[in-house]
Amino acid sequence: MLQIPKIIQGGMGVGVSNWRLAQAVSRLGQLGVVSGTAIDQVLVRRLADGDVGGHMRRGFEAFPFPEMAKRIWSEYFQPGGKSPGMQYPAVPMHQKRDSRKLIELLMVSNFVEVFLAREGHMNKVGVNFLEKVQLPHLASIYGAMLAGVGYVLMGAGIPLHIPGVIDNLAAGRPAEYKLSVAGAGADLDTLMRFDPLEYVEGPLPVLERPKFLAIVSSNALAITMLRRASGRVDGLVIESPTAGGHNAPPRGKLQLDGSGQPVYGERDKVNLAELRNLGVPFWMAGGYGSATKLRQALDEGAAGVQVGTAFAFSEESGLRPDLKKRLVAQAAQGIGQVFTDPLASPTGFPFKVAQLAGTYSDLGVASARTRVCDLGYLREAYATQDGKLGYRCSAEPEAAYVAKGGKLEDTIGRKCLCNALMANIGHPQTRKDRVAEPPLVTVGDDLNTVAAFLKDGKESYTAADVISSLLGNHEVAMTAEPVTAVIGS
Ligand SMILES: Cc1cc2nc3c(=O)[nH]c(=O)nc-3n(C[C@H](O)[C@H](O)[C@H](O)COP(=O)(O)O)c2cc1C
Repeated sequence: MLQIPKIIQGGMGVGVSNWRLAQAVSRLGQLGVVSGTAIDQVLVRRLADGDVGGHMRRGFEAFPFPEMAKRIWSEYFQPGGKSPGMQYPAVPMHQKRDSRKLIELLMVSNFVEVFLAREGHMNKVGVNFLEKVQLPHLASIYGAMLAGVGYVLMGAGIPLHIPGVIDNLAAGRPAEYKLSVAGAGADLDTLMRFDPLEYVEGPLPVLERPKFLAIVSSNALAITMLRRASGRVDGLVIESPTAGGHNAPPRGKLQLDGSGQPVYGERDKVNLAELRNLGVPFWMAGGYGSATKLRQALDEGAAGVQVGTAFAFSEESGLRPDLKKRLVAQAAQGIGQVFTDPLASPTGFPFKVAQLAGTYSDLGVASARTRVCDLGYLREAYATQDGKLGYRCSAEPEAAYVAKGGKLEDTIGRKCLCNALMANIGHPQTRKDRVAEPPLVTVGDDLNTVAAFLKDGKESYTAADVISSLLGNHEVAMTAEPVTAVIGS
């Protein structure tokens, strides 16, 4: 028997679904999910800000390899925090072979986020990664597993080889992952490797294998994951193109509507009858943040729903309070606007952007920004002319991208999501003349529906408000134990 949640609070990077939000959701018996994407950078910036509230310190104290924790802490912690206007420390960008220090940072940061989300209750917590951001995968997953993560969720790509990685790491064996490298010939070594034995202090910890949920957008992908994955796939999240964050591109040739947004059609719809026959639980995502939609999903045979947007604007999320406030106010008036930008993300996937004056969605702000690539999570690995590995991002300075064999036309309209998403959660890098990197908020098409969670004239709402609204108050009142549907497995 497998106990599963009705509501998965979707992973929201960077740092929007932080430990605080995931903890709030899991405490209420649903599945809270932290984002592991760029969490190493988030931790560095929290430490550079002086570890406000002292939460990171608790996580470090619980880390099972104290010498490693000490090294990272003394490298990045700034007592009292950096002075305003000072730059955050530069951390080297990830590569196929990261330095030991960077690998340790990945392990510790993922551990701390999951540890804090699990504090004070016995319920499961998940971690979310994007398949496209491959370089940090192995050490990140191990770090999350050291903290007892219950679920690993991954989409934005086809994570066929992650289940096998999880199996190996759970057994204390080395794990390998093949990096996607544009233009790589057969002789280029693209295999990343991580051996826990090289990092543990003392005996290998005994780890439980977390469940693995693949986030997919079509029946074909669902079947591919179940048939061809390197290990067990415990369930599926079926995400439609109305969801916040990155969306799968429409099937077939890309067509744009009059406003420049991708057109999705019949071929992009999933066949629920087929999904029901796959034999694993599935959760519907993309516009499912209401009691009616949850009921519909359950009636259609889903185990429940994955919800992002509604939680992104809850009090607990990592999104900057002023951005939340402005967008919730727009939602309350029914005037929030979301644009599915086919160009913004260097991944090439459509990316949903809330239209908000003064942010990077604003043409003036976008054109005033000087291109710089210093975080590099969305860099693509490619084979250089002399047969080595190189890294490039279509949002980096155009000349640099073209010099690396990239096409100039691929740089048009690209935005530096790495820096923008760090700005969204209050950790913007400071540039010349004390100019801060601009934020760029991603949100689902259903932005305006979050107004439904505002009660009694209030201007904000909590994760509990979302859950009680979806489930009905009586279920949430008995919060200590997981609210479960029981499905044979
Ligand atoms: C702010 C934000 C960030 C997101 N980031 C991620 C992410 O890092 N990884 C991911 O798999 N999905 C991400 N998503 C998608 C959510 O996990 C979820 O599937 C989606 O929001 C569900 O649709 P909804 O927004 O209509 O509720 C993000 C969504 C939002 C709103």
